[in-house]
Amino acid sequence: MKAAVQPGQQAGLRGREIDTAHANLGESEFTGPCLNQGNELSAVERHVPIVKSLVCQDEIATQLFASALAAQPALRHAFIELHGELGAGKTTLVRHLLHALGVQGRIKSPTYAVVEPHELPDFNIWHFDFYRFSDPREWEDAGFRDIFASPGLKLAEWPEKAGALLPRADLVIRLEVQPDESRRMTLTAQTATGEALLQGLPRETSA
Ligand SMILES: Nc1ncnc2c1ncn2[C@@H]1O[C@H](COP(=O)(O)OP(=O)(O)O)[C@@H](O)[C@H]1O
Ligand SMILES: [Mg+2]
Repeated sequence: MKAAVQPGQQAGLRGREIDTAHANLGESEFTGPCLNQGNELSAVERHVPIVKSLVCQDEIATQLFASALAAQPALRHAFIELHGELGAGKTTLVRHLLHALGVQGRIKSPTYAVVEPHELPDFNIWHFDFYRFSDPREWEDAGFRDIFASPGLKLAEWPEKAGALLPRADLVIRLEVQPDESRRMTLTAQTATGEALLQGLPRETSA
C-alpha cells in the first residue's frame, strides 16, 4: 500500500511541540553503565537496558506520546515490540504513531495478513501482528527475514508468538490496563538505537 504523503506533511518528524498535559514520563529509572565486561564484548552485549515508565490517562495522551516518539530521528530504522493483552492499546498506539509520521487514511490492522506495509517518501514501515502466526515456514515464505534485514521501521504486536525468529528489538513497549482504564507503558531500550529513542523523549511531560 502506497501512502500518498508529501514530505512536508510529516508533522511528527518536524519535531513539533508536544502538549504534555496528559502523559507523565517522570517515573524514569536509569541503570548505570555496565562495568568491567571486557574488551571482547560487543557494544550490544555490554548494553544495559534503560527503562522509562509513563501513564497515559486516555487515548489523547497515547496520541501525544506517539507524536513524541514519531519526532525521534532514530525511529526510522528501529524495531519496536509491543507487548500487552488484547485491548491493551497496541494497535491504537501504532495507528497514532503512523499518523504522526505522515501515513494517511484509515490504517488497517494487520491481524489477518500478519504484516501491513506503509511507504513514506523517506522510509518504509512494516506493522506486524503475530497473533495468528503459528507456522515458522511462513517466516521465510512471506519474506519476513528480508524485511527485518532491510532498513525501515518495524513494529510488532504479539512478538512472543514469533519467538526466536525475531531479531533483538531496539525498544520494547509493554502496555498494561490500569484499574482506572488508563494505560501504563513501560519502555525498555535494548540497543543503542533504543537508548537514543528513549533519551530523545521528554524526561518530564506533565504540565
Ligand atoms: N490510554 C489509552 N491508550 C490507548 N487506548 C486506549 C486508552 N484508553 C482506552 N483505550 C482504548 O482501548 C482499546 C485498545 O484497543 P487496541 O489498540 O485494538 O488494543 P490491542 O491492539 O492491544 O489489542 C481502544 O478501543 C482504545 O480506544
Ligand atoms: Mg492489536
